[in-house]
Amino acid sequence: MTPLLPLLYALAAFSGLGSATAAAAPNSKASVFDWDKIRFMYAFGDSYTFVQGTEGFANFSFFGDAFDFAFTPQQILSNQIIPRNTSSEGSNWIEFLTGCFGGSPLNCSKQLWNFAFAGSDISGALLPLHHNYTIPLVDQVNQWATYASDVLPHPTGETLTAWWIGINDTGDTLNNASITDFPAFWETEMAAYFTAVQKAHDNGLKTHLFINVPAEDRSPSIVGNPTEAATMKTHLIQFNTALANHVAAFQAANPDATTMIFDSNAWFNMVLDSPAEFGFNDTTGFCTCADPAGFFWYNTGHPTQLVHELLAAAIDAQLRNSSTV
Ligand SMILES: *[C@@H]1O[C@H](CO)[C@@H](O)[C@H](O)[C@H]1NC(C)=O
Ligand SMILES: *[C@@H]1O[C@H](CO)[C@@H](O)[C@H](O)[C@H]1NC(C)=O
Ligand SMILES: *[C@@H]1O[C@H](CO)[C@@H](O)[C@H](O)[C@H]1NC(C)=O
Ligand SMILES: *[C@@H]1O[C@H](CO)[C@@H](O)[C@H](O)[C@H]1NC(C)=O
Ligand SMILES: *[C@@H]1O[C@H](CO)[C@@H](O)[C@H](O)[C@H]1NC(C)=O
Ligand SMILES: *[C@@H]1O[C@H](CO)[C@@H](O)[C@H](O)[C@H]1NC(C)=O
Ligand SMILES: *[C@@H]1O[C@H](CO)[C@@H](O)[C@H](O)[C@H]1NC(C)=O
Ligand SMILES: *[C@@H]1O[C@H](CO)[C@@H](O)[C@H](O)[C@H]1NC(C)=O
Repeated sequence: MTPLLPLLYALAAFSGLGSATAAAAPNSKASVFDWDKIRFMYAFGDSYTFVQGTEGFANFSFFGDAFDFAFTPQQILSNQIIPRNTSSEGSNWIEFLTGCFGGSPLNCSKQLWNFAFAGSDISGALLPLHHNYTIPLVDQVNQWATYASDVLPHPTGETLTAWWIGINDTGDTLNNASITDFPAFWETEMAAYFTAVQKAHDNGLKTHLFINVPAEDRSPSIVGNPTEAATMKTHLIQFNTALANHVAAFQAANPDATTMIFDSNAWFNMVLDSPAEFGFNDTTGFCTCADPAGFFWYNTGHPTQLVHELLAAAIDAQLRNSSTV
């Protein structure tokens, strides 16, 4: 993180949030977490998180697709990040957070190994894939465990794994009439999600940052429809509550884990409530353009690069704050 201004924004943001932030400090029994010592960052998720790889599916991933799932060690180690090729007009939050913007992750002081796939839901067994080539979250973990876990280092204390999923799940199910009990459906989703988290953990990823679903009820695709937006908001509260409960249960069941939650929902709402403080003057429209100055949203469902940059600064501040040194 180089930019000083976003960091100040982030600190101001957090002081405004007060106790609503619910920033989870590392579990006291867990191994010590020190953000400055993190050299390897793994990521699982969707379009908000994916980066383009030379070994990836164009506009969707860093590592292949459902039909190109296997990797040799040589392919893994030669994969490079194509700069500014994300779901925003430029770089995304995890590139800002790690400083790994392009080229080989091996060259970064925090190496970014990103298994996120755009349009991903948690599991293809629960919701239809967006495309037949989509790799949902549970399979991203399988891909890492099978092909990468023995190739890429993940020493405890120097490794952080980010999980950001649920944006597509909550979007896809908004008007799904066959789901009559949404809290029960989210429980089913969490069971699949945390089976994957456990698999990652059992294969050596011990320190986890979970990011909840942001305020998609305020995205341009839905904000103009108050009824849908209200339903979405209810679903997001349910999903994020279930997520927090499952993070706590996972932590309790795995004393050697370190878990943290970043409340992106609160952070999005905070910025959308005070846009001018952060340099935005349009929070309901979007500009799918090279320079969306002033716009929060890049298209109907994805934020602009400035949002990603500020978000990374806020996450960086929380990780620093959570560090026990
Ligand atoms: C991203 O990279 C892919 C090739 O992997 C290319 O087809 C696409 O046009 C690029 N997108 C942007 C926005 O640069
Ligand atoms: C990737 O996205 C960019 C920008 O939307 C588009 O111009 C390009 O054609 C896409 N590439 C592929 C291979 O679909
Ligand atoms: C790695 O960094 C070196 C030195 O900065 C640079 O010359 C090289 O091109 C980089 N390689 C890749 C694959 O990014
Ligand atoms: C989900 O994924 C698709 C890509 O397949 C994307 O176009 C869409 O905007 C995403 N978001 C939501 C909320 O569904
Ligand atoms: C994937 O879907 C596309 C279009 O929907 C289709 O043309 C293609 O044959 C499918 N690929 C496989 C391997 O099923
Ligand atoms: C609606 O949700 C059910 C899960 O209860 C799923 O099986 C079905 O495929 C979903 N329908 C659509 C169109 O996504
Ligand atoms: C919104 O902000 C951008 C960037 O600062 C500026 O260029 C634009 O003129 C502003 N638009 C309005 C309507 O204030
Ligand atoms: C830092 O930690 C303190 C105490 O846990 C908390 O009150 C504060 O909100 C945190 N700040 C950030 C930026 O996470």
